[in-house]
Amino acid sequence: MLAIIGGSGMAMFDEMVDRRRQVVRTPYGDPSCPLSFGRIDGHEIVFLARHGYGHTIAPHQINYRANLWALDATGVTDVVSVATVGGIRPDLAPGTLLLPDQIIDYTHRGHGTFFEGPDQPVTHIDFTQPYDSTLRDRLVAAAGSVGETLLLGATYGCTQGPRLETAAEIRRLARDGCDIVGMTAMPEAALARELGISYATLAVVANHAAGIGDSVGGVSMDDIARVLEGAIGRVRTILRALR
Ligand code: HPA
Repeated sequence: MLAIIGGSGMAMFDEMVDRRRQVVRTPYGDPSCPLSFGRIDGHEIVFLARHGYGHTIAPHQINYRANLWALDATGVTDVVSVATVGGIRPDLAPGTLLLPDQIIDYTHRGHGTFFEGPDQPVTHIDFTQPYDSTLRDRLVAAAGSVGETLLLGATYGCTQGPRLETAAEIRRLARDGCDIVGMTAMPEAALARELGISYATLAVVANHAAGIGDSVGGVSMDDIARVLEGAIGRVRTILRALR
């Protein structure tokens, strides 16, 4: 079963029919919100709003373990995460949709693993390829079927947030090889891998990152909101076509 984790600008997935919500309790506390179950063209899917339905949970406050555990417990095998990002590469204009294939983690968050505690053996997952290529291929096919293009292959630099970055931090991320910057890839992607869930991210470039292009003088929140309003509709159309 497929789950969609909606990010900023996507707190609902109204395209689902026969929607019902279910509160799932987990050993790690509460997920960001009750899970929404429903169907798209006859296929059962699950939706979770990463920041809560009212967008009240900041990136560093998200209970990533509870979210992933709850999805796993309800039989989810594949997760498409929708993530809003800043474009570091100057050619990544606001509104660009892309599928990252690598992550660099700059966060300092606790609870980045399920494998901790007195009864848990230390476990090291392979994370060479953090995203699932089969799920990426399915997203590419879905996008193609509705006339959208997804750029392939980008390195996602994950920062702690909730503040945006300084220009110097973005220059450093660029030197490190990051193409995009966001706040929620980690530990979400690693926790999915620990549970054996296939995971891919559909990233929406909302703005040029700090100090880049038209964000030389600063990042405009109004511009981000405007870009997201247009782009999230395109994301929904792609997700509706996902098989
Ligand atoms: N930086 C970090 N996260 C983001 C950005 C950004 O510029 N834009 C949207 N999410």
